[in-house]
Amino acid sequence: MIEIAVLGFGTVGSGVVELIDNNQEWIRRSVPEGIHVKYILDIRDFPNSPYADRVVHSIDVITEDPEVRIVCETMGGKEPAFTFSRKALENGKSVCTSNKELVEALGTELMLTAKQNGMSYLFEASVGGGIPILRPLRNSLVQEEITVIGGILNGTTNYILTKMEQEGAAFDDVLKIAQEKGYAERNPEADVEGYDCGRKIAILASLATGKKADYDEIPCEGITKIAASDFAYAKAIGRAVKLLGIARKLGDGSWSVRTAPFLVPDDHPLYPVSGVFNAVFVHGTMVDDLMFYGRGAGKNPTASAVVSDVVELAMHIGVPLRSAWNEEKLTLADSDLESHRFYIRAAAEQAEALEAAFGSGLEQIDLGGQEEDALTGTTAFVTGEISERTFAERLGSIEVQNVIRLL
Ligand SMILES: NC(=O)c1ccc[n+]([C@@H]2O[C@H](COP(=O)([O-])OP(=O)(O)OC[C@H]3O[C@@H](n4cnc5c(N)ncnc54)[C@H](OP(=O)(O)O)[C@@H]3O)[C@@H](O)[C@H]2O)c1
Repeated sequence: MIEIAVLGFGTVGSGVVELIDNNQEWIRRSVPEGIHVKYILDIRDFPNSPYADRVVHSIDVITEDPEVRIVCETMGGKEPAFTFSRKALENGKSVCTSNKELVEALGTELMLTAKQNGMSYLFEASVGGGIPILRPLRNSLVQEEITVIGGILNGTTNYILTKMEQEGAAFDDVLKIAQEKGYAERNPEADVEGYDCGRKIAILASLATGKKADYDEIPCEGITKIAASDFAYAKAIGRAVKLLGIARKLGDGSWSVRTAPFLVPDDHPLYPVSGVFNAVFVHGTMVDDLMFYGRGAGKNPTASAVVSDVVELAMHIGVPLRSAWNEEKLTLADSDLESHRFYIRAAAEQAEALEAAFGSGLEQIDLGGQEEDALTGTTAFVTGEISERTFAERLGSIEVQNVIRLL
């Protein structure tokens, strides 16, 4: 048996322990000696759990036990997850995690510690929950030059946007329902402001380029300004509103990385991705377009991704796996110079000012039918392709209700 330890017996950690017990038969096809959870580290005791006898409260019990070969960190947060992970790596244990916050902020350091100690640090579950995306990037797509990566990386916001679209409901009302159903946290800021999506696109961009994309440098917008009317206008031009984390290689070789709502056209594979589902779109120069789709969160899907790392680590005991990226920083393109087409929603009385500012490239969206009545007093336009800077300059002080980029 290969002995492992799980740090944090919450949603994901308990899923990992149960999956390893329940799916031992399938795991043994790859790891014939089997995998066994020897310790579970948590603050609390779990007297009613069948795993109560494995719960410990000190990391030293785990790091000082030479039988433990792999540690799964499913505690979340930066500390003490970072210190515990580093200690495990320094003590000859490979580590895997679902903790995107830690991977984005300190993953480079932990991969370096792993390398220095002949260990590995894996984090399949940190992006896309149960969707296998990091391993395909590290293995199946190593030969590819990736030029676009990203997509719908946050199930909470995709659920909210889908409900708003389907029911014509307001953001605040749908957020409340999402919280009641347990899809959104009581403090939803990290999801609705786009921070969670931003961390994930930083990880994906780092993987695609082999250099570290800095989350703090990635422009980030959430979905709090989206109104039901935006879906009506989007529909009229064959598009849907989606929060995307997207990284693109530009013509000059630099990378544009951004988190923002986009109007996605109905012929794009991301268009039909709805509800809590996530999807990661990849374009490689040889393989062309790919899309990875599935559940981006939840106990079992996320545990499945963590255990896929455990199995890979168990199959490579004594063989350190290549780091996902190096310490070099990814220089991002000047976001002001990036070009897009922009959707603008404004009060009807601003139409003249917008037409004067943007000239003949501006197209007014024709709603037609009944929706036009519901949106009396409002108008919407789409600009031609212009840079962020030119857009801001032309918009100047004209008061608008919302602006969304077109994908
Ligand atoms: N849930 C998902 O669907 C999902 C999906 C993808 C990624 N993730 C990521 O996976 C990680 C875990 O998420 P989760 O939803 O499983 O969180 P969770 O349910 O809150 O579980 C975390 C567990 O770790 C324990 N813990 C916290 N600090 C600890 C410490 N210092 N020492 C020992 N135990 C400690 C917590 O105890 P207390 O409850 O007593 O604080 C809790 O039992 C997070 O980084 C999250 O972002 C989660």
